[in-house]
Amino acid sequence: MSPFLVTRTLPEDATDAALRADVLHGLTRTPKTLPPKWFYDALGSELFEKITALPEYYPTRAEAEILAARAPEIAAATGARTLVELGSGSSEKTRHLLDALPALHTYVPVDVSESALRLAGEALAAERPSLDVHALIADFTGGLTLPGTPGPRLVAFLGGTLGNLLPAERASFLASVRSLLSPGDALLLGTDLVKDESVLVAAYDDAAGVTAAFNKNVLSVVNRELGADFDPGDFSHVARWNAEEEWIEMRLRALSAVTVKIPALDLAVEFAEGEELRTEVSAKFREDGVRAELAATGLELTHWWTDTEGRFALSLSTA
Ligand code: AVJ
Repeated sequence: MSPFLVTRTLPEDATDAALRADVLHGLTRTPKTLPPKWFYDALGSELFEKITALPEYYPTRAEAEILAARAPEIAAATGARTLVELGSGSSEKTRHLLDALPALHTYVPVDVSESALRLAGEALAAERPSLDVHALIADFTGGLTLPGTPGPRLVAFLGGTLGNLLPAERASFLASVRSLLSPGDALLLGTDLVKDESVLVAAYDDAAGVTAAFNKNVLSVVNRELGADFDPGDFSHVARWNAEEEWIEMRLRALSAVTVKIPALDLAVEFAEGEELRTEVSAKFREDGVRAELAATGLELTHWWTDTEGRFALSLSTA
């Protein structure tokens, strides 16, 4: 098999249809919402990479610390010969795993972004000529069919992105991941943890305003793709801890009453002064909650590792 293969299961026009449906549904209901997947155009992805380096945004550093410290145990516990990474993005965080999985034969990065997959896949295929890289352009939240690769498989879903899914979405996502696993396979899951509200809010409302720009960028995506006339200056960035749901909410608040036209949907959307559009939830977890959510889908949590400051966790669970 060639060292670097790319398979597309995401139809070319899927993104446009999905954005239209999400904007129509999300902006014509109360409260208004948009799914966070639309943050990640080229600028949004660049802004997110900047966020990962911010002093206030600890999750990326915390997870990298755990991966570096625990990768040998992960390798020993799984003996994985295939690593499947959901939402692989730049695959930066994967290198710790690849370095520590000596028996690895195949790496399957899965992402909706063909450009991210090609960039990361070509780099890895060059660095590691003995590793087969089979990239999948797919939306892993909509169910996934994996190529035949040598077992046992380790499916990794890192970064804490599980927290972007609402509880019901998490349950169906974990069920679809469970259906990918055969006996002996494992899931490596990154989850940010519940902690002091001030630390959490600062991580989503940094002093430099990078997260504010990241949040507002979704308005530019809707403007560009659907011809809307959002003025980002009409909105302010809000990061709020929802203690009841135990998640951070990112919102965009209308500074005054404003009407936004979205010609592609033949829609005019009215915002009252102070009205907020919720653009993301980022759930924070506790060990017993993760154990229970995994168990509900038939996965047994076998290992729970945190960084030295106890801010973030990696868990390993088996089918
Ligand atoms: C990439 C989804 C894990 O929820 O922390 C970072 C995205 N949003 N800053 C997160 C994000 C605001 C990030 N995930």
